[in-house]
Amino acid sequence: MTNTNLLFICRELKKSDIEQVSIIEEDAFPELFPQTQFEKELQRSQSTILVSKLNELNSKSSKLMPSSKNLYYKQGKTGWKKGDDFLTGFLTYWELFDEIHIMAIGVRREYTKLKIASLLLTECINKIIKKSFNKITLEVRKSNIPAIGLYTNFGFEIVGERKKFYPDNHENALIMSLSPILSEEYKYKIKEIQKTIESKSNSLFLD
Ligand SMILES: CC(C)(COP(=O)(O)OP(=O)(O)OC[C@H]1O[C@@H](n2cnc3c(N)ncnc32)[C@H](O)[C@@H]1OP(=O)(O)O)[C@@H](O)C(=O)NCCC(=O)NCCS
Repeated sequence: MTNTNLLFICRELKKSDIEQVSIIEEDAFPELFPQTQFEKELQRSQSTILVSKLNELNSKSSKLMPSSKNLYYKQGKTGWKKGDDFLTGFLTYWELFDEIHIMAIGVRREYTKLKIASLLLTECINKIIKKSFNKITLEVRKSNIPAIGLYTNFGFEIVGERKKFYPDNHENALIMSLSPILSEEYKYKIKEIQKTIESKSNSLFLD
């Protein structure tokens, strides 16, 4: 989606984004150890990393630049430098045989609830529909209500549970799955979700 109505847009990760995306990962997943080696991930043929960035073509974008917003993470450490795209989130997925596995979605904590994760997931789904994948799976912590809400909005269903999946606190993972995404019905659903993302951009800063 490249649209001046959108406050955020997506593209694939570039090498020059790695500092920012690593900081976003650290912010969104403080318990993760070791951190993802994005440089290696860029070389892995089955891996795709999408990032969301502030859309400078949107007239309201300056209001969301880090200098004009309080950033709490590490005293405002963003990894962003003047002249770079300001990244706000990322999504990593792997192509595994006949299905897609979402590895992670993370958003800078001051930029959550702005439909950025929904935008990233929509972009991911549109990309994989073009490659004729029909199914997505992922694992999510049982206690992660925001993420479960996000996936449920997209039609993911709980299909199983992995006991003590997470090494930090031995929490169980829910296995969630979404299919068939190639159906006309699902393509219609994605278009409806895109409309809610646009309307969020349009409704911000109205007062
Ligand atoms: C989970 C996460 C990716 C959501 O990102 P986001 O950009 O805020 O999500 P969106 O704005 O697109 O919200 C989509 C839906 O998610 C759910 N959601 C998001 N934040 C929520 C919150 N704080 N409480 C409850 N539900 C929430 C809602 O169902 C929301 O739909 P709605 O807007 O119709 O209410 C973000 O909170 C994050 O980075 N968390 C830390 C990392 C993580 O847990 N990643 C997921 C596991 S891999």
